[in-house]
Amino acid sequence: MSNEQVRFYNPSEEVVKNAAVSGMDGYRALCKEAEDDYEGYWGRRAKELLDWKVPFTEVLDESNAPFFKWFADGKLNVSYNCLDRNVANGLGDKVALIFEADNGEVTRVTYKDLLGRVCRFANALRGMGVKKGDRVVIYLPMSIEGVVAMQACARIGATHSIVFGGFSAHALRDRIEDAGAVAVITSDGQFRGGKALPLKPIADEALSLGGCDTVRNVIVVKRTGGECNIVAGRDSWFHDVVAGQSDDCEPEWVEAEHPLFILYTSGSTGKPKGVQHSSAGYLLQAVLSMKYTFDIRPDDIFWCTADIGWVTGHTYITYGPLASGSTEIVFEGVPTYPDAGRFWKMIQDHKVTIFYTAPTAIRSLIKAADNNPAVHPTKYDLSSLRLLGSVGEPINPAAWEWYHENVGGGRCPIVDTFWQTETGAHMITPMPGATPLVPGSCTLPFPGIQAAVVDETGTEVPWGQGGILVVKKPWPAMIRTIWGDPDRFVKSYYPADFQGRLYLAGDGAIRDKDTGYFTITGRIDDVLNVSGHRMGTMEIESALVAHEKVAEAAVVGRPDDLTGEAIVAFVVLKGPRPTGDAATAMVKELQNWVGQEIGPIAKPKDIRFGENLPKTRSGKIMRRLLRQLAKGEEILQDTSTLENPAILEQLKG
Ligand code: PRX
Repeated sequence: MSNEQVRFYNPSEEVVKNAAVSGMDGYRALCKEAEDDYEGYWGRRAKELLDWKVPFTEVLDESNAPFFKWFADGKLNVSYNCLDRNVANGLGDKVALIFEADNGEVTRVTYKDLLGRVCRFANALRGMGVKKGDRVVIYLPMSIEGVVAMQACARIGATHSIVFGGFSAHALRDRIEDAGAVAVITSDGQFRGGKALPLKPIADEALSLGGCDTVRNVIVVKRTGGECNIVAGRDSWFHDVVAGQSDDCEPEWVEAEHPLFILYTSGSTGKPKGVQHSSAGYLLQAVLSMKYTFDIRPDDIFWCTADIGWVTGHTYITYGPLASGSTEIVFEGVPTYPDAGRFWKMIQDHKVTIFYTAPTAIRSLIKAADNNPAVHPTKYDLSSLRLLGSVGEPINPAAWEWYHENVGGGRCPIVDTFWQTETGAHMITPMPGATPLVPGSCTLPFPGIQAAVVDETGTEVPWGQGGILVVKKPWPAMIRTIWGDPDRFVKSYYPADFQGRLYLAGDGAIRDKDTGYFTITGRIDDVLNVSGHRMGTMEIESALVAHEKVAEAAVVGRPDDLTGEAIVAFVVLKGPRPTGDAATAMVKELQNWVGQEIGPIAKPKDIRFGENLPKTRSGKIMRRLLRQLAKGEEILQDTSTLENPAILEQLKG
């Protein structure tokens, strides 16, 4: 990155002039403000950008570190901040959501209309006895109701936990059970790529698996129509429960630290972690990043293509854009239906100004455009765009350049935003009107965020040397704990190796030796990133060994041109090692099994069978060797410490 060939993409004068963070001087001034007076920096913004019922008097409480508290004696309501205050500020008739269905049908929902919908559903939930602190699981496709359900929970102080619609019954059950949910909100089905896919049967199966006794109510949105099992006394239709409800619903004024949501994500053990977020600190950074990273303006049409089932959909669909009073797109479908020009057509039709998507989507659309010139982005009028974003995984420079040139017309800055479910909002990202961009680098920390690269002892390494990515100071939108498992929270994020002082992101990073720009080098734990979806290797291994024929399994990642990483599983069966057709059939069986246990996103791309796994004499699986085998690399190093070197031959691809 630091040789002469580096090309910086500088923001145009026009962009710099009008930006919220204007020029590198503007960026540095914000960083200095935070450095000189950390609490003052965040406190001033919390006062300016959020509406409080009871103002806070203390910004940061570190007395029980690492369980940090922000703005703790203040009270507010997140849904009030997203809806009521916009209506009160004259934005009632402004379009909040432009919902485009899989089949292209468009529904526009104004702020006033959205507030009414949220109040009616919030009243319905209250009527069922759902109250502050109760957990509500939402298992819904991309829909207006998905946003309404989240906001309604926030309005009454219920803590929502969204489970991505692609997760299986088992995964859903585990999350319902861990959260102790009192209600589940789902739909009869969902439309994707022209097909109606059932959802309610999966929810029914999850609820029948045991462990879900806390669930009193299941609310079902009618989306696809047709047959749908409704269990008397437990299930009700969404349209029935909101019918006749009042458009007014007094918000529950909650403490700043009140858990707004729990979102499960993969860690390095088999059990997903329920990442618990706060109300005020979380919302503050959702709004502040809309302002600084996306430079949001009143006439923007903002489109984040993530699903509400992931953190990106929480922060940059449900909370950030609405709390900023913006107009945003909510898209039900897939980028390849009716053809791979869908995204470009939608940008053209809705005159999208800010487009935020994942590198995997970009890579697959590059491939599609190469194969079919008709769906090339340059065939569409994308002149409305002024800013592009990337999230979820490293973006390779070639994809960055293509995105910049063909989607952004060479004129739109790209914000490559590094962050995580745990961080709540952007952590390292360019400021579009300030930061000179370098493809493949997420550049510099968000103003106020103190990111660093350290060695195993927690000492900062010089620029140019790779190391472990950490955050040195707590920040408002950070994870508060792991639901029901505070010890795991401390061990995972504030490990003793760093004397509990540094937040461990779980990624490796390197800073450019001249600019100090960060490049993320990938996870340093047993977490894979497949198409921007986070998957734990242990989770997949647990699913595999739960199959009756599997004795042992080890899962690793391998670089993949399209999905970033691909899942490779090494499996030992209880019976003889299969070969030929028997092996092919077994691969299919295990892929489907993992799909059922976790969800289609967790299916291993490549499954190999051995009579054993490569182990040391003490029985430890040598994952390093498995990673090399997965990549198809020749094993050149000494394998004499292996108990069973011959096994390597069997496990070659
Ligand atoms: O490895 C990093 C990668 O995604 C992980 C977080 O995944 P998740 O919690 O699912 O949240 C994804 C959406 C915020 C990180 O630990 N990651 C995320 N964004 C980037 C990234 N890697 C490189 N560059 C990024 N911009």
